[in-house]
Amino acid sequence: MACVMKIEITDSYEALSKAAAKKAANYINNNPGTLVCFAAGDTPLGTFKELLLMQKEGNVDLSTVWYVGLDEWVGLGIDDKGSCIKVMHDSLYNYIPKERVRMFNGLADDIQKECSEIYEWIIKHGGIGLSLLGIGRNGHIGFNEPGTPDVEGCFTVELDEVTKSVSKKYFGKERAVTTGITIGWRTLLDSQEVILLACGINKAQIVKKAIEEDCTPDVPASMLQKHSTLTVILDKGAASLLDQ
Ligand code: GLP
Repeated sequence: MACVMKIEITDSYEALSKAAAKKAANYINNNPGTLVCFAAGDTPLGTFKELLLMQKEGNVDLSTVWYVGLDEWVGLGIDDKGSCIKVMHDSLYNYIPKERVRMFNGLADDIQKECSEIYEWIIKHGGIGLSLLGIGRNGHIGFNEPGTPDVEGCFTVELDEVTKSVSKKYFGKERAVTTGITIGWRTLLDSQEVILLACGINKAQIVKKAIEEDCTPDVPASMLQKHSTLTVILDKGAASLLDQ
């Protein structure tokens, strides 16, 4: 299917967050009962703040949809600073009915079972409706690291060196993380709508590769070009190397 990529370049992180929240709220308002997948990471934090504000003002009801976690660091749980589950609960899910949310448990004894259960949750809710994703400096989406194969569902991935070194910013210290658990890019591509967010000059080069160069699993975010209605929301820094 041909891609109709929409690129929105905003003036600031605040503007990016507002634009993303507006788009996500619009999806949620128009598609109650569907499944939403929000990335953790720093980039969407402003979006979550805006969504909660919109909910307070009566412009969206976040409890009308279901949620699934995108990824997690294997070995980390809700009490660990920087784990995806903690970030998402602190910034959004504490304000949403518990039964609406299913995130990966990075501490599960049986990680393969965890992968199957998350995929079952996705299937049970009719696939992912909206995916709101960030991009890693190496082009990863979720923990689909460079070279992650085209596999349906969820799986564990050996973390890339870039991801390991960037990870310190979440944990506030060195942690020996080696493995990630993620929804695969193939399943993300099946989402009804995909929004990709990037902000800051340090993402400019990888954003250019992801949206202006050929699709390749070596830059997992570039695979999103195959989505029929991809929206990319950037700030000026992240957009600074784009041709147009
Ligand atoms: C992290 C996560 C992704 C996230 C990406 C970008 O490691 N695995 O889900 O979207 O990298 O993170 P940030 O928004 O902090 O730059």
